[in-house]
Amino acid sequence: MSKPVSGFSRLSKTEKINWLAENYLQSNPAAISTIKQYWNTDEQLQKLHDEFIENTVSNFYLPLGIAPNFLINESYFAIPMAIEESSVVAAASKAAKFWSERGGFKAKVLNTKKIGQVHFTFKGSFSKLNKLFQEIKPELLEAVKPITRNMEKRGGGILNIDLIDKTAELENYYQLFVKFDTRDSMGANFINSCLEKFAEVLQEKAKAHDDFSTEEKDLQIIMSILSNYVPECIVRAEVSCPVEDLSEDTNMSGEEFADKFIQAVRIAEIEPYRAVTHNKGVMNGIDAVVLATGNDFRAVEAGIHAYASRSGQYTSLTHAKVENGVFKFWIEIPLALGTVGGLTSLHPLVKLALDILQRPSAEKLMEVTAVAGLAQNFAAIRSLITTGIQQGHMKMHLMNILNQHKATEEEKTEMVEFFTHHTITHSSVIEQLEKLRS
Ligand code: MEV
Repeated sequence: MSKPVSGFSRLSKTEKINWLAENYLQSNPAAISTIKQYWNTDEQLQKLHDEFIENTVSNFYLPLGIAPNFLINESYFAIPMAIEESSVVAAASKAAKFWSERGGFKAKVLNTKKIGQVHFTFKGSFSKLNKLFQEIKPELLEAVKPITRNMEKRGGGILNIDLIDKTAELENYYQLFVKFDTRDSMGANFINSCLEKFAEVLQEKAKAHDDFSTEEKDLQIIMSILSNYVPECIVRAEVSCPVEDLSEDTNMSGEEFADKFIQAVRIAEIEPYRAVTHNKGVMNGIDAVVLATGNDFRAVEAGIHAYASRSGQYTSLTHAKVENGVFKFWIEIPLALGTVGGLTSLHPLVKLALDILQRPSAEKLMEVTAVAGLAQNFAAIRSLITTGIQQGHMKMHLMNILNQHKATEEEKTEMVEFFTHHTITHSSVIEQLEKLRS
């Protein structure tokens, strides 16, 4: 039984690793060398990574892949994707090529508002609170000037601030509901700093308000925090082509393909079990770009799934139709992304990913990311309604199985050749490898 540890964060890195090995890794004699194997030999670079979080013991690698040939609003992009799932980059590249021959992707940012809230309780009437709020609004805005000054220089800042009465849902509960424009930064720190200042001033002003009773003066701040739900920070991406142009490399006519494709999307629109998997395919593309560009994929995931449920039922993020012989497939999603601040100037691979994308603005990155999601969803549905998903998936997964079984380079070449003509399953790969080895 391992014992709890106190003051762990104050131990040196070596002490932390030794403690971990002694307490949790006795069954793994190679543990310490595995941990150290992933340290960077450049000590400065390793220190940079160590300091991103607390209690770093090693680095956790993910492949960084490139999906080239994305034609978006008439310009070509090579999209960096950080992801472990074998088939994702291959699928994105295939969809990119397919659509680059059909006019490419069109993408547009519809709006870029971010939201933050001060949640507080007030034991008094809305009208009294509102009177105070209207009086102190200029002071609230003045108090955050030192925080907003730079953002305002860049064209952003606070867009508006409202008092919301939530007492019908929860006793004494009110909010300051604030909208922000954070330009090219994701803006979490900026938003939270503004909110905490608003909260401080609001509480002070209530306390000092002559017309308030003792109970009313006791306004309690519960919390001040941005919302990761950003339904007014929306990007739209779409592809379209004449129905007959859809038939390439499938055994279906363009019309059959479009019918089946639209039916697949409709199923995801009305059936939550399918919608979740359908959207998971979308997120394969989105998360990979979000991660490669140093953005917060948990925030993006939470916000997108909330948006997918905004009608009260979880539904598809993408939609498709045929109109006047033209097939149209599109996505509209909330994406709060940044291309300055955060990890963007710290993590060398994030800087590189942003260089690959030609140093995009946050809006351009929203467009590219939405396109990656749409492309991924197109590739998945295309496989699902034609060959089935396993053919492409197992082709990419073959290398993982071979690596698991420590195949040599020669064995890999022979196996890849063999399985270009045979169906790949986990057991067929092992059987063939055993045959080869005997
Ligand atoms: C696998 O990572 C993603 C898919 O399941 C998506 C889908 O079913 O649409 C293939």
